[in-house]
Amino acid sequence: MTRGSTAGTEVDLRAEIAELKRARNAVFLVHNYQLPEVQDLGDFVGDSLGLAQEATRTTADVIVLCGVNFMAETAKLLNPERTVLLPEAEANCPMADMVNPGDVTNLKKEHPGAVVVSYVNTTAATKAVTDVCCTSANAVKVINTIPAEKPIIFTPDQHLGAYVRRETGREMIIWPGCCPTHARLTAEMVLEAKGEHPGAKVVVHPECPMEVIELADAVRSTSGMLKYCAASEASGFIIGTEKGMLYPLKKHCPDKDFWPITEQALCPTMKLTKLASVREALLHMQYEITIPADIAEPARRAIERMVEIGRDGAN
Ligand code: 13P
Ligand code: SF4
Repeated sequence: MTRGSTAGTEVDLRAEIAELKRARNAVFLVHNYQLPEVQDLGDFVGDSLGLAQEATRTTADVIVLCGVNFMAETAKLLNPERTVLLPEAEANCPMADMVNPGDVTNLKKEHPGAVVVSYVNTTAATKAVTDVCCTSANAVKVINTIPAEKPIIFTPDQHLGAYVRRETGREMIIWPGCCPTHARLTAEMVLEAKGEHPGAKVVVHPECPMEVIELADAVRSTSGMLKYCAASEASGFIIGTEKGMLYPLKKHCPDKDFWPITEQALCPTMKLTKLASVREALLHMQYEITIPADIAEPARRAIERMVEIGRDGAN
């Protein structure tokens, strides 16, 4: 196939998607790690909290969530009457499967009276046994709303949990889950990147291990990184999160330079969604998110509390 005909195919695909989008009255909510061409489709591109907030504002009949399954479930919990589609059925977050409702129920029995805080990167079933959810953009704020005398169970990310414990000084019972993409980042990688780019600021996601967080100039959610880098006087940044983040950073701050801590920071399931997946999703109305009512009701309460709390100042 020639270069020209490939470009033609993509133009046709985009036109087809636009037509289907109109016909279905759909909105595209897209996470910051998605492929560039998918981000360019987005009516809204953002972090997990932004996607949840945006899902409360839409009037579209169909929400196409380009991200991973917990994000689509969250949109569905906030929009029980709308159709929510996840374009790739296998687009899951491995961390969300590292804890299950039985694990949480057992911890509650061991620690009666504890408040359960679950990262939004969990299944709807885990959210249903959770008191309040949080994202990387408001985990500190959420913990600070909990009365000092209450024990806290935090699931499933041990690294986000350790960061929040450091920031709030609160003792917490922390589940030992992690994000495989962020957990592989090391202090050695940061030091090497700093050596290659002297003067660059180090900006990392709170899913990184503490040895990485300790070397950072800023710890932010993905959208918090956009704000931080845009406001900073620095012109170069070493980024400690999934590599897809470099695309919105460069789009947001075209005059600044960004380098990943490592080229290996890739989340395979975040990359499954292609333009063709979005076309197929709208054409066949797949893959529709459904959540049984007995799970949806308590899970929705945990998400609604999180949305009410909003963002940390810096995020
Ligand atoms: P954000 O909410 O910061 O976008 O993070 C989501 C996520 O999955 C990070 O790996
Ligand atoms: Fe889950 Fe990590 Fe991928 Fe984010 S980057 S979706 S936390 S596996």
